Amino acid sequence: MKITPARRIRGRVQIPGDKSISHRAAIFAALANGTSRITNFSPSEDCASTLCCLRKLGVSIQSERSSVIVQGAGESGLRAANEALYCGNSGSTMRMLAGVLAGQDFSSTLTGDDSLSSRPMQRIIEPLQMMGVDVKSENGRPPLTIKGRRLLTPIRYELPVASAQVKSCVLLAGLNAKGRTEVIEREETRDHTERMLKWFGVSLEKGENGALSIDGPGSLAARDVSVAGDISSAAFLIAAAAMLPDSQLEVEDVGLNPTRTMFVSMLRSLGVAIEVSDEREESNEPIGRVRVKGELNAEPLSPVDATLVRGNLIAQLIDELPLLAVVGTQMPGGIEIRDAAELRRKESDRISTTVKNLRAMGAEVEEFEDGLAVNGRTQLRGAMLDSYGDHRIAMAFAVAALTATGDSEIAGAEAVSVSFPEFFNLLESLVER
Ligand code: S3P
Repeated sequence: MKITPARRIRGRVQIPGDKSISHRAAIFAALANGTSRITNFSPSEDCASTLCCLRKLGVSIQSERSSVIVQGAGESGLRAANEALYCGNSGSTMRMLAGVLAGQDFSSTLTGDDSLSSRPMQRIIEPLQMMGVDVKSENGRPPLTIKGRRLLTPIRYELPVASAQVKSCVLLAGLNAKGRTEVIEREETRDHTERMLKWFGVSLEKGENGALSIDGPGSLAARDVSVAGDISSAAFLIAAAAMLPDSQLEVEDVGLNPTRTMFVSMLRSLGVAIEVSDEREESNEPIGRVRVKGELNAEPLSPVDATLVRGNLIAQLIDELPLLAVVGTQMPGGIEIRDAAELRRKESDRISTTVKNLRAMGAEVEEFEDGLAVNGRTQLRGAMLDSYGDHRIAMAFAVAALTATGDSEIAGAEAVSVSFPEFFNLLESLVER
């Protein structure tokens, strides 16, 4: 994909449905009693992988454009698939389905593409084994073979890594346990599973220590879901508007779940004019309109330190960190991201792939085991860039390329389809040169 620099971004957009919420809507609707209609379902390849796996498990799903109708299989309606369940690039599909399959009285095998096959699964294998499930893997990596059984042993589990996928896996397994399963997270991660379990009629308690409790065996009642626009997809357009002076962008009906909006809050604290309005609830998720006006380029009055992003901020920004590093190149003091070793376990090693692309564009970057530091106020230059097969790297550097001098080329840009197939068309419709 060739990217020519832009003067500014102008326009109003509607962003396709949130990927995280869509996965959950499909899985919960498949487990529910009755028929659920999901609207504004994410067009991402990742969510298509979830639908495909659910169909192989015997769930009847009709989908037409962004509407998906799921005939729920109920508590014991899933059937053994007669082939492996291929999860493509999607960690959410594999980790959440593992939690579902743990409580079924049949065996399943979950596989993925090369990227997913190298990602860590011990984090879900450990709690599932504690619940009495037989799970086989390749040294903690996919493929996973799960020999499920009914009525698992309930556990009290403190998450060793801040991960909404792991939390969701244990809660889903807890639905099929005999008694109370508790999950404790030290750092808050996205809470879509908790919200959607409640939407589907499951009672989930949150204790004072933040422990989540679910009583099994539980059942879900079918419910229609209208999916909010994906704030993590919108983030790329918001960042482009923030970095290009004189931009104006309006994003309609976008998800504003507080566990997902830290990127917007950070931009605001860095001086970007961002306004949120028309706030309301949609299917138990906050949603609204975000308006952004460029620019990040106000001249600092005195030397400014690098903005330091670390600790419990990391889980709140996990999908936006490569983009934040790109934005950091235009901030007065630059940015330093630490405590983010998890980034090395994403669709690509996002510390390394971000550093390589930033350096190719002429940014001064230091790489750490758990993060990176990038100098601010750097005029990026057009370069040969690479997505390294990672959708968020492709989009972060498409945004960087808009602010550069000279054209850039991104190899493997088609990776955007994993979360946001319309990304380049939408971006192009907003760009003025
Ligand atoms: C997700 C959780 C996060 C995030 C991923 C989606 C989810 O992963 O990076 O894009 O839908 O629960 P981790 O749970 O591995 O942090």
